[in-house]
Amino acid sequence: KTIYLKDYAPFGWIIDDVHLTFRLHPTATRVISRIRVRPDYDVPSRPFMLHGEGLTHISAKVDGHDAVITEVDGGIEVDVPHAPFNWEAEVEINPEANTALEGLYMSNGMYCTQCEAEGFRKITWYPDRPDVMAQFTVRIESDADHTPVMLSNGNGLYYAQDNTQSPAPNVSIYQDPWPKPAYLFALVAGDLVAHEDKFTTMSGREVDLAIYVRPGDEHKCAFGMEALKKSMKWDEDVYGREYDLDEFNIVAVDDFNMGAMENKGLNIFNSSCVLASPETSTDGNFERIEAIIAHEYFHNWTGNRITCRDWFQLCLKEGLTVFRDAQFTADMRSEPVKRIDDVIALRARQFPEDQGPLSHPVRPESFQEINNFYTATVYEKGAEVIGMLKTLVGDEAYAKALDLYFDRHDGQACTIEDWITVFEDSTGRDLSQFKLWYSQSGTPTVSVREEYKDDTFTLHFSQSSAPTPGQDEKLPQVIPVAVGLLNDNGDEVLPTQIVELTQAEQSISFNGHATRPIPSVLRGFSAPVTLTQDIDNARRAFLLAHDTDAFNRWEAGRMLARDSLLSAIRTGAAPNADYLDGLKALLRDDSLDPAYRALMLAQPTQSELAGVLHQDGDTPDPATIHTASEAMRQAKADAFADILPDLYAANQVDGPFSPDAVAAGKRALANSALGLITKLDGGATAAKQYAKADNMTLQLASLSALLDADAGDDALQAFYDQWRDDRLVIDKWFSLQVMHAKPETLADTTARLTNHIDFDWKNPNRFRAVMGMLAAHHAGFHHESGAAYTLLAEWLIKLDPVNPQTTARMCSAFQTWKRYDADRQAKIATQLERIAAQPNLSRDTAEMISRIRGA
Ligand code: ARG
Ligand code: ZN
Repeated sequence: KTIYLKDYAPFGWIIDDVHLTFRLHPTATRVISRIRVRPDYDVPSRPFMLHGEGLTHISAKVDGHDAVITEVDGGIEVDVPHAPFNWEAEVEINPEANTALEGLYMSNGMYCTQCEAEGFRKITWYPDRPDVMAQFTVRIESDADHTPVMLSNGNGLYYAQDNTQSPAPNVSIYQDPWPKPAYLFALVAGDLVAHEDKFTTMSGREVDLAIYVRPGDEHKCAFGMEALKKSMKWDEDVYGREYDLDEFNIVAVDDFNMGAMENKGLNIFNSSCVLASPETSTDGNFERIEAIIAHEYFHNWTGNRITCRDWFQLCLKEGLTVFRDAQFTADMRSEPVKRIDDVIALRARQFPEDQGPLSHPVRPESFQEINNFYTATVYEKGAEVIGMLKTLVGDEAYAKALDLYFDRHDGQACTIEDWITVFEDSTGRDLSQFKLWYSQSGTPTVSVREEYKDDTFTLHFSQSSAPTPGQDEKLPQVIPVAVGLLNDNGDEVLPTQIVELTQAEQSISFNGHATRPIPSVLRGFSAPVTLTQDIDNARRAFLLAHDTDAFNRWEAGRMLARDSLLSAIRTGAAPNADYLDGLKALLRDDSLDPAYRALMLAQPTQSELAGVLHQDGDTPDPATIHTASEAMRQAKADAFADILPDLYAANQVDGPFSPDAVAAGKRALANSALGLITKLDGGATAAKQYAKADNMTLQLASLSALLDADAGDDALQAFYDQWRDDRLVIDKWFSLQVMHAKPETLADTTARLTNHIDFDWKNPNRFRAVMGMLAAHHAGFHHESGAAYTLLAEWLIKLDPVNPQTTARMCSAFQTWKRYDADRQAKIATQLERIAAQPNLSRDTAEMISRIRGA
């Protein structure tokens, strides 16, 4: 069944408050709800419909009388007066049997919840829609002593344990004063320990902070706590947003479908996204954890205080919150490095989505299963749209608009129209054309041509957008293109300015240039588009050496690398000398941030190259792409042989480990150098680093290098022996082996790993560590045998009945299938059909497979 945005209708009733009682039991939890309801006289009278899924109904009453209930699709309708009334119901649910990890479930003996998007309906009868906001009071009762900690949203009002009995029953009561939709409800109960701290808000409110973890993980909380305090302070300083409860709790959970969840006052995290220690986490992990803690915290205002009217508006909270967490990371660390990282991720994850069968607008107009729309398009492209808006109106107007947004819409469930109207009202701009970014799917292409005549330099722009599913014709969009001009010496003769494209073709002239300037176009990646520019390698090499915009300087290097790789793939050409020379000069420039130089040293991924070839009308051959990419790495090692040892030595970090951006940047550059050194010394340097590594960043990089050189067997075993009891590190151990498998043996290696005693496939992190990496190994996944396609399909079929959400997400491994040759397409088609033919396939997976097949 397909749901459409255009069919939105309000609920018709107002919920004044909700009282929930949970009598916890692993297989038979009772949930008693008491809800005060009154008609919403502003809308036409509507049936009183409550969602519910998989509930064992015990009883229900309306104003104390047995309720008259009719079952309808997805829930029940109840006979009620068109007047205020009380609804009471009792249901039973089975948390232990809940392997889908939506609603109330158990993870390693603890109770926890995940209600976004539509999980609350698995807990009790309720209008499970984000436009229904209510105050919740929650009472949790347990008669076993393995749940000493029992938490819910808001402020803890009461806790008691009866120690005269054994096991000692306990009770906890929480009250959340802020009206919220059901998707923000959370409950946690278990044997947990707290890492505590305090934060005083700008108006002087003292907030108790805690990160709850399983005993044994206490030493992995300190970094997350610092990140939380920094986030709270930053949101006050930059957005004027203050925290609004007496406590803020974070809980780490081992079994979790996504990264984390912003439940009001009780954020629940995938343990991989909060637990950190130098010994077990890489610099990349630390940065990601800091960003996710910030993201969930920032949702308190952009998501919770102001929420979404319906799930089509998901980007209203996610695009904005991703944008805010990116600003935060840029402020905490390096702005250009963060921007480059984000563009790499956008191109790797969002562009393929937007250019394939799963393409959808930032605000989709229909869905079958909303969980399938927590996508790179909604999140990351959604954040790009906010960034463009800010670029167009300017920083000051953006700040003013945000103040108005918080002011006007606090406590409401809003739409993209509300958001756009705030900007129109506060800036006086007409944003109707800009709004196309929310409704048109696909990645626009911007082409630019240069002309120079009589001291006037002109850029001729054109924009176009290829058809995407359901959208054959596209209208021109508002595209802010940041442009700067340089002279032959590399001095900036025109600082960055914003060219606002609104038409299919448009030109802009710059007068008074006695010599021909050199343009730097789409600085900072000012719009999520594909730029085509007819310029040669010499120009790119010039920009690589001189561009005053850090992003475009990196981009020039990336384009050189890309074109060199494409020539190697198409004609077997040797690596481009301009690229290697330019890169070498940059690597030895110690005035440049090591993190930035490490990014420079990387090259486009094999999957990205396949995408470019496909866009250019060629059929990518994964084996050729693999060979060319490896050859490029070897060429770099050879060309930089004389500087690599110094680069490696100069970027060692002494003293106790610190995950800060400067130290992390040095380690990133040293480890990149190590990767190339290993191509020359067969692993001698890597083995030394492995032997003395006292943090995971150094340990993992050296193990990775050793595996790359086929010299990692002993280290791999040692690594397992050292970390066998740390599940997050063992995830890395699994991933690494898949990542470093040879293309022709990837399927066998992966199949062997699935037989390992530690391959707990019902745990999403472990499943992704293996199957996610299988799909990410371009040359191996697309090996001509088709063995990896078959293996992934088998595992998706096995996981689907257990965990539809994680299965469905991983189906996107097949989304690029139309890029490849007929033989590979036929092999993938066979697997897609096989999955589609499974009896009782989940709604989640069925929707994904049918969209991917284009059916
Ligand atoms: N709102 C969460 C976040 O972005 C994501 C939760 C998504 N969960 C889901 N089951 N779809 O932080
Ligand atoms: Zn979010």
